Amino acid sequence: MIVIQSHAELTREIARRRTARQRIAFVPTMGNLHRGHVQLMHEARRHADTVLASIYVNPLQFGPREDFAAYPRTPEQDRAQLEAAGVDILFMPDDTVIYPRGRDASTRVEVPGISDILCGASRPGHFRGVATVVHRLFQLVTPDVAVFGKKDYQQLLVIRLMSGDFNLPIEIVGVETVREPDGLALSSRNSYLAAAERPLAAQLYAVLRSVADQIRTQGVTGAGYAAVEAEASGKLAAAGLRPDYVSIRRQQDLAAPVAGDRQLVVLAAAWLGKARLIDNLEVELKPVP
Ligand code: PAF
Repeated sequence: MIVIQSHAELTREIARRRTARQRIAFVPTMGNLHRGHVQLMHEARRHADTVLASIYVNPLQFGPREDFAAYPRTPEQDRAQLEAAGVDILFMPDDTVIYPRGRDASTRVEVPGISDILCGASRPGHFRGVATVVHRLFQLVTPDVAVFGKKDYQQLLVIRLMSGDFNLPIEIVGVETVREPDGLALSSRNSYLAAAERPLAAQLYAVLRSVADQIRTQGVTGAGYAAVEAEASGKLAAAGLRPDYVSIRRQQDLAAPVAGDRQLVVLAAAWLGKARLIDNLEVELKPVP
C-alpha cells in the first residue's frame, strides 16, 4: 500500500494508473476504522482495479461544541487494517491540501433542504461540511466509483445530490450497515459509550425494527406516522437514551411519505452518555392489492 500526503504525489499516482487504464474506487473516511469500513474497502474492490482510501478528520463538519478535538485518531491501526484489506493507496492529506486558502476562507458546497432536516436540524452546518470536503476529495482523487456506508443514510443522499448537481462522472455506491451481534451499528463514536451504557445502545436498532414491523402491517395512513414515531421516541427514553428524532421517511428524498409510497426508511438519532448514535432501517411496503 502506498501512503500519500501531498496533492502533487496523488496527481502523479492517479495519472500513472489512468495511463494503465485502471478504474479507481475511492472510500473517504475519517479514520478510526472498524469492520464497517473494511466492508466498504471490499465493496470498492468489486468495482475497480485500484482502491484508494482517505483518512481526514474534516473540521468543517463538526459544530463548535462537537467532538472534533476528541474524535478518535488511530493512524497506525488504520494503516494496518487498510493494508490487510488490500487497499492500494492511502491518502492522508492535511488541512493545507484540503483547504489551501484556509478552512474559513475556502469555498463551501451546500445542498439545501436535505441538509437542514433530521441530523441537519440538530447539527447546523454539518452536511455543508460533508458536501464541501467530499466535493474537494472527489476533485483531488477523480475516482470512477465512490463507496459510502448506508448507516449515514442522510449523508449518502446529500452526496448523491451534490454529485448529480455537478454532473460528476462518479458512481456513488451505498453499502449495508455492519452491526454488532446485538444489532448496534458499528461506528467510531461507539467508543464514547461507557461499559454500562453499551448494552442499552442496542435499543436503538430494536426500536427501529419494531417501527418497521408496525408500518409493514399498518401501511401509510392519512394521519401519517406521527403516533408511531412518538411511541418509538418514548421507548428510547424509557430505555435510558435521549432521543433526538425517530422519523419515517421516503428513501428517495427523505420527505414525509404519502399514500402510495412503498420504499420507506426509518431513521433515528439518540444520545447515550457522550455518544450521539444514529441508525436507520429501510422498509419496503407490499403493494396494496
Ligand atoms: O462518513 C464519514 O466518515 C465522513 O463524513 C466523510 C464522508 C469521510 C467526510 O468527511
